[in-house]
This record gives sequence, C-alpha cells and structure tokens, in this order.
Amino acid sequence: MEYQSKFWNDYFNYYDVLLRVIPYQELFKRIVSHLQVSKNIKLLDLGAGTGNLQAFLPKNIDVISLDNSAEALDRLKTKFPNAQVYKHSITEKLPFKDNEFDRIISNNVLYTLPSDQWDFVISEIKRVSKPQSLIVISNLNTNFKAIKIYKDHIKKSLRNKGVLKTIWDVSSLIYPTIKMIQFNKIINKNNEKGRYSFLNAEEQKLKFEKHDLISVGETEKIYSGQANLNVFISRKKNTVSTA
Ligand SMILES: C[S@@+](CC[C@H](N)C(=O)[O-])C[C@H]1O[C@@H](n2cnc3c(N)ncnc32)[C@H](O)[C@@H]1O
Repeated sequence: MEYQSKFWNDYFNYYDVLLRVIPYQELFKRIVSHLQVSKNIKLLDLGAGTGNLQAFLPKNIDVISLDNSAEALDRLKTKFPNAQVYKHSITEKLPFKDNEFDRIISNNVLYTLPSDQWDFVISEIKRVSKPQSLIVISNLNTNFKAIKIYKDHIKKSLRNKGVLKTIWDVSSLIYPTIKMIQFNKIINKNNEKGRYSFLNAEEQKLKFEKHDLISVGETEKIYSGQANLNVFISRKKNTVSTA
C-alpha cells in the first residue's frame, strides 16, 4: 500500500502530459463515444486519477470520480472545482447503493491490481450498476510498451501538424515522456512480481462475462494497440432480448 500511494503520487506530477499525446486523446474519444452520455445519466469513473475523462465529456454530465490517491483527486478538483469525488479503494466495498449508476467507466486502473482482486471489483461494479447500464473497461494489455504510444503520437503529429510543430511539441514532451517511460518500466517490473495484472483481450472479456455481464461487440485494441477496451451491459444473460 505504501509503495502504491508513493508511486502514484510521483506519477501524477507528470501524468497530465498525456493529454497532449494523440493516442491518449483518441482513447478517451473512443471511450466517450461508447459511453453514450446524455444530460440525465449518472456516471461513475472508477480510478478517475486527475479526471482526464472529464476533458472529453460534454458539459453538464453528472460524474462521480473515485480514486484512492488524495494527490490525484486534489489535481482533479483543481481542474474541475465542482467535481464530486470519493477517496476510496476499489478493493473495498464501494460507497454507493445498489443499482445507482447508468454508466461506469474504468480506464487503466484494473491492471494495477493483482488478478485475484478483479472478481471482487467486478462484483461491486455489477452491484452499483443499474440494470441495462453500460460499463466501459479499458486496460493496458500484456506486452504493453509505452514507447509504441509515443512513436504513434509522432507519426500522427507529423501527418496532422507538420514537421516544425511536431519538433516543437516533441521537444517539450521529452522530459515528461522519459519520466513516464521510467514509471511504466516500474509498472512492468511489478507485473513480473505479480502485483499488477496485464491481461490479454480474451482474459479481460471473460473476467466480466463470468459475472453475467454481457459483452457488447468484440474487444477493441486501442491506445496504439497497447490496451484492450470492452463494453458490457449490466443485465443477466437469461434476460437478454434477442429481438
Ligand atoms: C494509470 S492511472 C489512470 C487514471 C485515469 N483513469 C485516466 O485514465 O487518466 C491509474 C489510477 O488508478 C488509481 N488506483 C490504483 N489502485 C486503486 C485502488 N485500489 N482504488 C482506487 N483507485 C486506484 C490510481 O490512483 C490512479 O489514479
């Protein structure tokens, strides 16, 4: 626990540089398109970090942000002063009633848990989701390489913004990028020690289906192919209409 919170606190000093990285922007745009938000829905962001999701959501969406890092939530509150935040670990019973949320999103959070903790978290996600609500889950996958995301960024930036703007952008990204790559090395190392769990596409989908959450479509490879995204609908298999 000590190691976890110190690690994430250091990490958040550099985290928001990701908002300038094209594949990260694409990832959130894709997540938001799957969430199908509208004004009256209640959305839970599990492991919200510094609240980057909210930069991609339309205004007036009721988002509840939960994370166990006070540092992340402080940054989130600085960026979005009206945000509703909960400092809480997803490995504990969630502080919400049954059937409370219309949408639940968790991006790049579950991989930070040992794989034997996923079942409890998924059971809690299921408990607090309304019947027929949408659950969007994305996580870094096995063999994740941060460098591939940055290479993809440069390729797309060259195509969209041209050489000069790309050189300017990339030079200001170099130091935070090196820091993020170092953090990601630590993340990979911890995976070898069994603390984290990078799952492949099929494993992530099956973990949720085991809890009777219904997959909507196949697993998508996103974030420059370094993450797996799944959408689930919260209802029992035997109540799905085939019409
Ligand atoms: C890679 S960051 C992702 C943040 C955010 N979802 C995003 O995409 O920008 C992982 C987040 O998971 C949070 N986290 C890790 N373990 C957690 C736990 N047990 N309970 C709640 N949050 C946790 C960290 O504090 C961090 O904010």
